[in-house]
Amino acid sequence: MVLPIYVYGHEALREETEPVEETTEDLQSLIDDMIETMHNAAGIGLAAPQVGRSERLFVVDLTPMADEMAKAEEPLPPQPMVCINPTLVEESDTTVDMEEGCLSIPEVREAVTRPERIRMRYRDRNFEEQEIEAGHMLARVLQHERDHLDGVLFTDYLSSFRKRLLRRPLREMVNGVVEADYPLVTKGDERVPAR
Ligand code: NI
Repeated sequence: MVLPIYVYGHEALREETEPVEETTEDLQSLIDDMIETMHNAAGIGLAAPQVGRSERLFVVDLTPMADEMAKAEEPLPPQPMVCINPTLVEESDTTVDMEEGCLSIPEVREAVTRPERIRMRYRDRNFEEQEIEAGHMLARVLQHERDHLDGVLFTDYLSSFRKRLLRRPLREMVNGVVEADYPLVTKGDERVPAR
């Protein structure tokens, strides 16, 4: 089932998340819905708070970037990935700028500086412990999605100058003036159908 995605300004994106204790039928159907929702929105990552849920969980599908990853000689594990209770256990001192977007912040893209490589521990959808060393787009997406679980959005990293340039589009989102190719929920809990 495609779930509506909560838009910038909605409190759900800033709320605390809870570690997942065990897999249940409800968790498995949430994971299926999140993967379907991400694919429907042509996204490469989606975190539980973006669909109004408080589980520490996100999904990623970098299949559209597979060629680019191969060119960079970065291994890409089987996709989609389900990351439950993720923790960053290591990050490189070297950082890179990369453009980011977010399904909760439609049509805004900005360069963000983050560690180039990371090591992350998480549980997969079978609740088995996994550890991954990632670079390139994968390191980027994993960091962006993990941030969502702490209520952090990529726009939080922008300089006050860049933020000032985005003030109008962001304020419009907060005020519910927003549209996307996928269904949304705005700050006032209004549903906005896909355009
Ligand atoms: Ni995002």
